[in-house]
Amino acid sequence: MSKQQSNADSIDYGTFQATLDRSNRLEQDLESRPDDFRVLTGDRPTGRLHIGHLFGSIQNRVRLQNLGVPLFVVVADYQVLTDRDTADNIAENIYQLTIDYVSAGIDPDNGKTFIFPHSYVPELNQLLLPFLTLVTNAELDRNPTVKEEIQASGQKRINAGMYTYPVHQAADILFCKGNVVPVGKDQLPHLELTRTIARRFNDRFAPQAPVFPEPQALLSKAPLILGLDGGQKMSKSRSNAIMLSASEDETAKLIRAAKTDVDRNITYDPENRPEVSNLLLLVSLCTNREPHDIAAQIGDGGAGKLKALLTECLNEYLRPLRSRRRELEGDRSYIRDILLRGIEQAQNEARTTLEEVRRAMGMLI
Ligand code: TRP
Repeated sequence: MSKQQSNADSIDYGTFQATLDRSNRLEQDLESRPDDFRVLTGDRPTGRLHIGHLFGSIQNRVRLQNLGVPLFVVVADYQVLTDRDTADNIAENIYQLTIDYVSAGIDPDNGKTFIFPHSYVPELNQLLLPFLTLVTNAELDRNPTVKEEIQASGQKRINAGMYTYPVHQAADILFCKGNVVPVGKDQLPHLELTRTIARRFNDRFAPQAPVFPEPQALLSKAPLILGLDGGQKMSKSRSNAIMLSASEDETAKLIRAAKTDVDRNITYDPENRPEVSNLLLLVSLCTNREPHDIAAQIGDGGAGKLKALLTECLNEYLRPLRSRRRELEGDRSYIRDILLRGIEQAQNEARTTLEEVRRAMGMLI
């Protein structure tokens, strides 16, 4: 068996170190030659974004965009159907998500940035069919992120979309030949699957002239933002989040109720004092100051003083974003126009790719 064949034989869901090394090299290349890359990222439209999304992933996308890299943002509306039993409000969520993106600096007017819901791109969705024939049921069964989601859902009857959405995600990434995918750790199995599908497609149908790139993960360097209850990741469904769309008063109220500890002397110690350290980290992200310095400044002022400081810094930091957000909320037709332009670009890309795919598969009539 040749090396290439043995590579293609099974999906390696566990190569974190290799991914990390690649990701670090990629950072340098992106800065020196932005035009060689195409970033593809996305979210499920399940609601509005919170500050964990902002500091964790959105700002990273804006940074890449501002390096001059083309940016495709897929709003994964079909994916929502796999993990929820109701499909309420998906269109409204698409609008709210787009408003959050644009108010945070994602710029669909720069000619290189596109936001689109994948359900509106038929040729993208059509890639799912050949891609499904390139993976086995056993491989889909082993996907650790899917396994966790199934467990978390508590459902006994799992729909087939739950097992196959990672293949659909490969179509999201490959339809436009995205070669850089900024992701958190939980998405790495999906990216490994995408790389495998690209490699197998090329090996099988296009050994002389590969159709697809093997996209690389760009791991976020942003620190994990905990929720205001301190113990777990910030997440709307856990009611521990500050939404971008929250008012200044709501923000103050949420911070006042945040969990801290009994030690009045404020120190930055993420290991032993996760709640207090998380609040310090947020102040640090808003002010560009070191968490230790902020802690030293507050000293014996206690959690009350820390919370007052965070409220002030965060509201100030978010003020321009929120004001832009309010303007955009009043301009539905502009948001719709952004999506229609994104859809048009995505459709053009997908049509071209599907044509190439047909030719490679020997199905072009
Ligand atoms: N699965 C991703 C999530 O739950 C959303 C997503 C869909 C995505 N398609 C994508 C992410 C393509 C990156 C690239 O957050």
